[in-house]
Amino acid sequence: MSRKILVAVAWPYVNGEPHLGHIAGMVVPADIFARYHRIVGNEVAMVSGSDMHGTPTALKAAEEGVSPEVVATRYHEIWSKALSDMSFAYDLYTHTHTDRHIEVAQELFTALLENGHLAEATQSMPYSTTEERFLSDRFVEGTCPHCAHDSARGDQCDNCGRTLDPIDLIDIRSKQDGSTPVFKDTTHYMLKLGDFQEQLEEWVNGKTEWRANVRNQTLGMLREGLHDRAITRDIEWGVPVPIEGWESKRIYVWFEAVLGYLSAARAWGEQQGKPDEWKKFWTDPEGESYYFQGKDNVSFHTIMLPSILLGKGGLNLPTDVVANEYLTFGGADFSKSTGNAVWVSDFLTRYEADPLRYYLSSIMPETSDSEFTWTGFHAANNNELVATFGNFVHRVLTITTRNFDNSVPTPGELDDADNAALEACNVALKEVAEAIENRRFRDALQAAMRLARHGNQYVDAKEPWKVVKVDKESAATTLWVGLNIISTLRTVFYPFLPTSADRIHSMLFSDSDTLADGWDRRDIVPGAPVQKPSPLFRKLDDSIIEEENARLTGK
Ligand code: MF3
Ligand code: ZN
Repeated sequence: MSRKILVAVAWPYVNGEPHLGHIAGMVVPADIFARYHRIVGNEVAMVSGSDMHGTPTALKAAEEGVSPEVVATRYHEIWSKALSDMSFAYDLYTHTHTDRHIEVAQELFTALLENGHLAEATQSMPYSTTEERFLSDRFVEGTCPHCAHDSARGDQCDNCGRTLDPIDLIDIRSKQDGSTPVFKDTTHYMLKLGDFQEQLEEWVNGKTEWRANVRNQTLGMLREGLHDRAITRDIEWGVPVPIEGWESKRIYVWFEAVLGYLSAARAWGEQQGKPDEWKKFWTDPEGESYYFQGKDNVSFHTIMLPSILLGKGGLNLPTDVVANEYLTFGGADFSKSTGNAVWVSDFLTRYEADPLRYYLSSIMPETSDSEFTWTGFHAANNNELVATFGNFVHRVLTITTRNFDNSVPTPGELDDADNAALEACNVALKEVAEAIENRRFRDALQAAMRLARHGNQYVDAKEPWKVVKVDKESAATTLWVGLNIISTLRTVFYPFLPTSADRIHSMLFSDSDTLADGWDRRDIVPGAPVQKPSPLFRKLDDSIIEEENARLTGK
């Protein structure tokens, strides 16, 4: 029976364009995972959207003197285009300012209130006397009470990962003007996280297969004990609190943004005329869900979201929360604010998506930060994609089409090297599948690349371009085996390099659907047509390294 897999990708704030750090950490792994499960034949919903309501967007709007909606909508469109230009196959990429999302967020808020998990409380919140307004979490920073990091934000500390409330910060200051806010009383709804302490402990303790960073961070917070947390704010931009008298307040952005996964799954089903489709992933006990994100999002997905889901009842908790560390550049974080970044849309004006997907997968910051370098990108493209993968595919297809009338040759008897090559195909299928299943994407890519290398060495040793002149039958066998390797490469690279896999597919097979036949080595049938190849990858000139580095420092 096919599995039902929700692939939940973190929702980016839309206060700027996507850079490579954003997509490396959350979208590349999610897309690999979703494509793999689709080709295997499982039912997949990959959903996400833009997090429209966050303070970062409000801040940017304030700078520009326009409404937050203008800024959010502008960047939502830019994000949507960049994501599709990268061939990320979301089933739905929506945003949090839709009617559907606002309804779902309010529905859950109300359900939690009715179930007794919300309490009104008077809270001290930072209030700017210079601006005469309450400052929301990301407008304030200060020293973390847990780890003494000196620029923790009001919602969390990036150093130790703990969620915070503004009042926890030592030496709090406004990010707008550096002034020290006063604390003023205001009434808010609190989410009684403590109600879920035991259930969460039991749940996380059972999740021994989670990555250590995610598990330890979460267990650490649970050990310290969960406290009530305000889930409304004194701001104007956000989802209205569905209670009379609360018109001037909004639901806390993290409370509603994490519910985007639910509202987007519902919207996606509705768009196909299947309003109950979301239940496969959310209420069916067999449904699985995988949440992909950067490490700074963990506590919201392992504590806040599960608490809301438990508070409502009947909704599936995450199967896994897959958090990556950061992609760095020149030793520092990719950052919108400092301009230390390579922008996705700019990148795509000069290079293709597949080589970037390849390089980002090969350096994916799975267990520690990893560094993007232009030298690394250039080497991955030229030495691995062009010289190994592309070269192998090109040689086999060229010799085949030239000498065998554009069709698959009929193999003779197989020798040890031929059998070993076919066995390498089986091994690659198995290893790549296992690694992706277990969310080890770098290992998966390496296993796929081992097969390309094997293919290259195999034809180097067999020299079919020479042999074809003296022993056509023997060359026919080599090429048939080579075509089998290519057929397998099509499958194992499909999650990573969808465009290249599609191109291989159309050179080898006359139907157009890469997904049709599952996680397999599709049969190479003697006599079937083979297309004349065009190169899969383009060699990059050495000069791009300096050019690109200069472009960066010139900014
Ligand atoms: N907008 C948040 C960020 O960029 C992530 C939100 S993920 C969600 O850090 F699930 F909460 F939407
Ligand atoms: Zn800290």
